[in-house]
Amino acid sequence: MEREIIVAGNWKMNKTIEESVTFIKELAPLIATSRASIFLAVPFTAIYAASKAAENSNIIIGGQNLHYESEGAFTGEISALMLLDAGAEFVIIGHSERRQIFKESDEFIHKKLVKALKDDLRPILCVGETLEEREAKETEVVLQRQLQKALKGVPIEDLEKIIIAYEPVWAIGTGKSATAEVAEKAHLFCREQVRDLTNKVIGEKIPVLYGGSVKGENAKQFIEQKNIDGVLVGGASLQIKSFAEIVDKCSSKI
Ligand code: PGA
Repeated sequence: MEREIIVAGNWKMNKTIEESVTFIKELAPLIATSRASIFLAVPFTAIYAASKAAENSNIIIGGQNLHYESEGAFTGEISALMLLDAGAEFVIIGHSERRQIFKESDEFIHKKLVKALKDDLRPILCVGETLEEREAKETEVVLQRQLQKALKGVPIEDLEKIIIAYEPVWAIGTGKSATAEVAEKAHLFCREQVRDLTNKVIGEKIPVLYGGSVKGENAKQFIEQKNIDGVLVGGASLQIKSFAEIVDKCSSKI
């Protein structure tokens, strides 16, 4: 089965409104002929301007987090409606920085996923093990727990819309990416978990992205793997040249 190929940038807490708009306007012509889906998760403050700048391009703008409630007394949080209103079409959920620094639990992440799906924001659900967990040979246990807790009880017709990102925590922002073989093994495992929670068709259809120190130089080795359907890029998505190079390498799979 042909799966969607996705190159997603995660800008984290970087770029002002002006920097975001300039980046998008300069990037758009460089990737205009790519058949990959190109996503950029920008800071909340830049979503509106970024989505306007991305009009008439193949760049899709999204957010990096949301709250599971629709509105209310949640100081500092953002709702699905606010993201949609600003022009976001997708949202990253359960990034390891949210899990670790902000102590987000599997249950909390599940609620966010349900909310995003209900309100029509396409979720990129991040999963991945820490170095200690990998060394203790717990990678599969951790991935299974994170996926099961996030996806359990979600209606099958909604699960079709999700994107999964496998991001080994030890590879994020460290310059130490996983080898393509290590990543492929984890991706296959994630796909099998989704298949077990849904059915064979959805298990085959869901895109599973790799994230963790992806650069122009190593993108090809990941995208060549059978179960890797794209990448989620942090550091290298902040520079137009490196991000465009990653898009180019990933587009070769289509
Ligand atoms: P990195 O970040 O590419 O800088 O390792 C990836 C991510 O956090 O999604």
